[in-house]
Amino acid sequence: MTSSTLITGIGELTTNDPEVSGTALVLEGDRVVWVGAAADAPAADESVDVEGRAVLPGWVDSHTHLVFAGDRTAEFGARMAGKPYAAGGIAVTVGATRAASDDELEANLRRHVAEAVGQGTTYVETKTGYGLTVADELRSATLAARHVDEVTFLGAHLVPAGVAADDYVDLVRGEMLDAVAPHVRWADVFCETGAFDEDQSRAVLEAAAAKGLGLRVHGNQLGEGPGVRLAVDLGAASVDHCTHLSAEDVDLLATSEVVATLLPACDLSTRQPLPNARGLLDAGATVALASNCNPGSSYTSSMAFCVTTAVLQMRMSVEEAVRAATLGGARALRRDDIGVLRPGARADVHVLDAPSTTHLAYRPGVPLTRAVWRAGARVR
Ligand code: NIG
Repeated sequence: MTSSTLITGIGELTTNDPEVSGTALVLEGDRVVWVGAAADAPAADESVDVEGRAVLPGWVDSHTHLVFAGDRTAEFGARMAGKPYAAGGIAVTVGATRAASDDELEANLRRHVAEAVGQGTTYVETKTGYGLTVADELRSATLAARHVDEVTFLGAHLVPAGVAADDYVDLVRGEMLDAVAPHVRWADVFCETGAFDEDQSRAVLEAAAAKGLGLRVHGNQLGEGPGVRLAVDLGAASVDHCTHLSAEDVDLLATSEVVATLLPACDLSTRQPLPNARGLLDAGATVALASNCNPGSSYTSSMAFCVTTAVLQMRMSVEEAVRAATLGGARALRRDDIGVLRPGARADVHVLDAPSTTHLAYRPGVPLTRAVWRAGARVR
């Protein structure tokens, strides 16, 4: 029998649904079943009083790279001393990932997912992309599928050393895609100087779409380029990074369904400028915030850090940033049952140790996660 939990004493409730408000909610099984005024709350098996704290949907982290082994502290140190970030650093993690056992990779995945959940993240997407052979990409996809909510095939992350670029593109869109497709929902391409050009990216994404996969694009990370245009052309769900956008890119995003996923922790960690969130929002684009947790360009699982940065340094309001890190991530993953708190939604609930979400920016760096339910299970 499924049990129910009544959460009362909510000081500020963020539902991301203008039709739904209240000071109490009821979870049953893995769903939210009721939201409203505490005085009207139905009976439940147990009751938790959050004593005036803020409650919001769990963070939706729509962009991570958690199937990896190895460490790139030295590369980070060199970057902080002035060396620029380049796509080629991925090869270091590819070597370590290929050399790792399944157990090591799985322990790493488990640890990073637990770290994220402990900070209020309740829905996690992750990518392959540190294997880059048919066997290693397949292994990454199957391991990821055991630990995260959504898996993305990123065979087109980097052309591995010793392989001709066009041969590698053929492998990715052929044998590798055939092997990995049954285990993933999405395909992605790193469309950037030093990784894959527009034609190569298009070839991979079209093959993936023909297999029935949804599309995502890494684009406009290190400079302006074709990523946004390609994502819009192919009807991708999301284009991620968007650090360097032309006015035309902003227009394209504002007039399409493609979500602009911003990864501010990555921009800080690679000494890139922060993206023009204000311009995107004012133009009418849908914006998501994600951690991009990976060992090279953004080694953090903290969505709160991304929200804080978005407010303090990217001129997003607290409301916009929280929405982008919850509902925005859900839109980027084309889901309507996460990132919201309303009857029927997944019971992903984040209680802050603060009276309002404003404290996420007002108290930067302070761990504010008090309690977390993920798909109805209390996980913190
Ligand atoms: O999203 N940009 C490409 N992929 C990752 C970086 C991976 C790495 O440097 O290992 C990213 O930043």
